[in-house]
Amino acid sequence: MLNALPIRDPDPIIRLMQIYQADTRANKIDLGVGVYRDAFGTTPIFRTVKAAEELILATQETKSYVGLGGDPAFHAATRDLVFGSSVDAERIAAVAVPGGSSAIRQLLDLARMASPMGRIWISDPSWPNHAGISEAIGAPIWRYRYYDRETGSVDFDAMMDDLSESSPGDVVILHASCHNPTGADLDLDQWDAVADVLGQTGAMALVDAAYLGFGQGVIADTEGLRTLAERLPQMMVALSGSKIFGMYRERVAMAFAVAETPKIARVAQAGLVSLNRLNFAFPPDHGARVATEILTDAEMRADWEAELGDMRKRIASNRIALVGALEIALGSDRFAYLAEQRGLFSILGFDDALLNRLRETHGVYMVEDGRLNMAGLTDENIPLVAAAFAAEL
Ligand SMILES: Cc1ncc(COP(=O)(O)O)c(C=O)c1O
Repeated sequence: MLNALPIRDPDPIIRLMQIYQADTRANKIDLGVGVYRDAFGTTPIFRTVKAAEELILATQETKSYVGLGGDPAFHAATRDLVFGSSVDAERIAAVAVPGGSSAIRQLLDLARMASPMGRIWISDPSWPNHAGISEAIGAPIWRYRYYDRETGSVDFDAMMDDLSESSPGDVVILHASCHNPTGADLDLDQWDAVADVLGQTGAMALVDAAYLGFGQGVIADTEGLRTLAERLPQMMVALSGSKIFGMYRERVAMAFAVAETPKIARVAQAGLVSLNRLNFAFPPDHGARVATEILTDAEMRADWEAELGDMRKRIASNRIALVGALEIALGSDRFAYLAEQRGLFSILGFDDALLNRLRETHGVYMVEDGRLNMAGLTDENIPLVAAAFAAEL
């Protein structure tokens, strides 16, 4: 039977990682992979995560199953983090899931249970897995225009035009902050206008929150989605703990569905729990417990926000340093927009031929469309990257 399997292309990012690992040049520079890196090029364990893990190691008495939907304390802590007081907790259905990708999958599956013919609207461009997951569940994908490559900012009029074509039963995927891959975010007035348009069309927002704290601050980065939660009768949020706690491999995440009434929320809750049961049964607990400790202990919470603040500052200062180095190397302000954008990623709009030359001749690794991970930059490699661009552009 297995000989009848269709051949699937390997994920381009994974393929690039393999080429990078096999590259023996000492001066190779990885700006492709989507993880935070510090000034030494490592993806560190947060000190708050270490502290919480030590506490759990000393006090945990069982590793028996948690509930199918995860630990209620994790629910409460993350619900508070994401929604604050923007919506009545009784209206929120929630389950813990293994990673933000899984949160998106479970929420899209839930939407399909309610609306089998609904379309999934995805920004152009977006994180490739949005389309990948939508395709895997057999949903029709519609793209809404999002990014203006001329200005490096959101093409908001075009976005609004496209979203005004959405309908009840459709899902519109939005990025809470630090849009991946463009780094171009909506401002609060624009979130308000998104609430207006979705309020009119009746489509359901699904906000992908993978980078809270990487944009302007943990709470500031929730303001947009809180606007939707406050103003719309229903919406969903996929919260990933991978980047925000640096617990990539622990698979820490929550799927939230805000329903019009507490009664509908209970039905949604049963739907989400049964999806968990069918797909993987019990969600992982270790990372969730660590996150709960951090979020509920005032001192640890403050320290975690300070850690995230340092990461945010490092990314912002890398953006400014890169723009400065490129201005000098290229004698143009073509890339000035990078300093205005937020989060790990921006796109430079490089085609495959240029990306190959940068990789083969200069050892500079970036992914499709010239997506560049700002945290891969260091004081040492910024001049090398600028020189490589100057040589190839
Ligand atoms: C935009 C976006 N959403 C969701 C995720 C999900 O991450 P994970 O499944 O590792 O939690 C990522 C990770 O790269 C992402 O960039």
